[in-house]
Amino acid sequence: MEELTLKIEHLCSGFFTERGYVPAVDDVSLVIPQGQVVGIVGESGCGKSMIARSVMGLLKYPGRITGGSIQLAGRELTGLPDRQMQRIRGKDMAMIFQEPMTSLNPVATVGRQMREALLLHEKMDKNAAREQVLNMLERVGISEPEKRYNAYPHELSGGLRQRVMIAMAMICMPKLLIADEPTTALDVTIEAQILRLIRDLSRQTGMSVLLISHNLGVIAQMCDAVYVMYAGKIVEQADAFTLFDSHAHPYTKGLMDSVIDLKTNPRRLPAIGGVVPNLLHLPAGCAFSPRCPLAGERCRAERPEMEQLAPGHMCRCFEGRRA
Ligand SMILES: Nc1ncnc2c1ncn2[C@@H]1O[C@H](COP(=O)(O)OP(=O)(O)OP(=O)(O)O)[C@@H](O)[C@H]1O
Ligand SMILES: [Mg+2]
Repeated sequence: MEELTLKIEHLCSGFFTERGYVPAVDDVSLVIPQGQVVGIVGESGCGKSMIARSVMGLLKYPGRITGGSIQLAGRELTGLPDRQMQRIRGKDMAMIFQEPMTSLNPVATVGRQMREALLLHEKMDKNAAREQVLNMLERVGISEPEKRYNAYPHELSGGLRQRVMIAMAMICMPKLLIADEPTTALDVTIEAQILRLIRDLSRQTGMSVLLISHNLGVIAQMCDAVYVMYAGKIVEQADAFTLFDSHAHPYTKGLMDSVIDLKTNPRRLPAIGGVVPNLLHLPAGCAFSPRCPLAGERCRAERPEMEQLAPGHMCRCFEGRRA
């Protein structure tokens, strides 16, 4: 049987606000087989980062996991005390963010903070740790690692900082790397390099990756399987080839058209009209129905369930096959 690094089942998480509970992730199930790169794609506010934070145990009040299960290599993470989650973070799973400075300490040299991250989880002497850090810096394509070891984060360019953050996340060889919009702040050439680096590291080490992006083009290049998310729910899932070749959800088609639009005419607005609905006031039927070119009466009245269209290809849409 295929080994699963991550298995999320029926995950619900949201926020307890003055106006009541705001669901942000609503009954999401997702698996990442060992060594695979799995993508989540969807517009801003659809709940992608909430999934990442739920998995990492980094949801802060008023945010909370309200249901479901998250298993990392067979071990249940929901309900674990903070101290155990801290031990798992960094060692078994690590996360990289859009803005490297959120995970780098501005007042410590690159080498020192990486060495400390390593020593927190592994028993070894300082010299061995230093060697391992230099090795990892080299592995993520940083030239003159000795020099960078002694640099402060602000002394590095954006692309180098991103590499340092990846090196930092990789230092304990986690089973799972979560990359939440890791390249949106970078220019396209550097973006391509960083993405290739993540994919190569995954191939070389067998590490699984959860890649989050609003850009279907990025997801297409990188992923084995793709989950498309809208208003807190998965609306379509398939292997990357199927998703690009024969996607069924009108929302996926909209995202796809936006990628093509951006290529031919970067200034044009994305192809899907309207905005993501307020999660407190979702429409009665399918959450996408107000924006959907195919929506009929049933779509406005009834919520569609996930349905299997082909083995491994699931879609939440009454009209899906026509998209
Ligand atoms: N503190 C909060 N209180 C209430 N709602 C929140 C809070 N933080 C985030 N949300 C809501 O949770 C939902 C999911 O947010 P999330 O950050 O997961 O979106 P995302 O898909 O990662 O978007 P982006 O592409 O912009 O990063 C959004 O609708 C957001 O408005
Ligand atoms: Mg986000």
